[in-house]
Amino acid sequence: MTDRYAVVGNPIAHSLSPRIHAEFARQTGQDMRYDAVLAPVEAFAACIDALVREGVRGANVTLPFKTEAWRLATRRTPRAAAARAANTLRFDRDGTYADNTDGVGLIRDLADNIGVELAGRRVLLLGAGGAARGVLLPLLAARVAAVTIANRTESTARELAAEIAREAALAIPGTPGALHACGYDSLSDSPYDIIVNATSGGLVGQAPPMPTRAVSTDTVAYDMVYGKGLTPFLALCRAAGARRCVDGLGMLVEQAAESFELWRGVRPRAAEVLAGLRGAFPAP
Ligand code: ATR
Repeated sequence: MTDRYAVVGNPIAHSLSPRIHAEFARQTGQDMRYDAVLAPVEAFAACIDALVREGVRGANVTLPFKTEAWRLATRRTPRAAAARAANTLRFDRDGTYADNTDGVGLIRDLADNIGVELAGRRVLLLGAGGAARGVLLPLLAARVAAVTIANRTESTARELAAEIAREAALAIPGTPGALHACGYDSLSDSPYDIIVNATSGGLVGQAPPMPTRAVSTDTVAYDMVYGKGLTPFLALCRAAGARRCVDGLGMLVEQAAESFELWRGVRPRAAEVLAGLRGAFPAP
């Protein structure tokens, strides 16, 4: 019998996940079906129950349900626990297992597709909401030297840094990299190796108020969104001299690959699928 999976969100019609997972299944010869499911905003848990009753084996979860998905799980990976959000559910006999593959998707995209060495690097993370929270533990697990969280509301950044530092001490062996938090004005004078935009400002055409002293020609500027061309954040970095300005399409494909592996036990060739999607979503 064909195993079933789904991506659940609201809205969901434009999700690329069905296309990505169909391609992974074809590559690896897995007999599976993967559908897009629109859940009513007030009825996510009921929607998941219905999928489980229908025999669906696992689901990706996207906006606005990632926190609810994390909450309803009976078991969670440390990275899902730290993220307080889940984008991947597996429906096991004994309950619902939750993971968050967004952060590792970012790490894999940086390391494997963009060719950036993460160990020892100084990272600037812009934003302290759900998207930022999701990538912090994986960044520290990738042995970066330090992550600075800069946020418009400085107190939110400080609280997030303190909380993730506690999680990192428990989940990462040895001494994890340093975590700092600040407002945009008090960013240090030396440029960062990698700057990741995890603010939602780009959705309304706003660049975060980052001083250009944070950027050098060697800085990798990474915007988590895709399909929006040169976003205000990337335009700011490019104008400040950054040669590598990257969108989040690779993160999308890599988080999907990680979910696929969790469900099926085989790793798909994500780079091939990413190359196939690039035609429709040109690099910035
Ligand atoms: P998400 O789940 O996408 O991260 P969120 O939890 O609402 O969404 O968080 C949005 C993040 O983008 C926050 O860090 C927010 O900053 P504040 O905490 O100060 O609100 C940030 N953000 C949103 N619009 C922004 C803008 N125009 N400039 C800078 N930061 C912005």
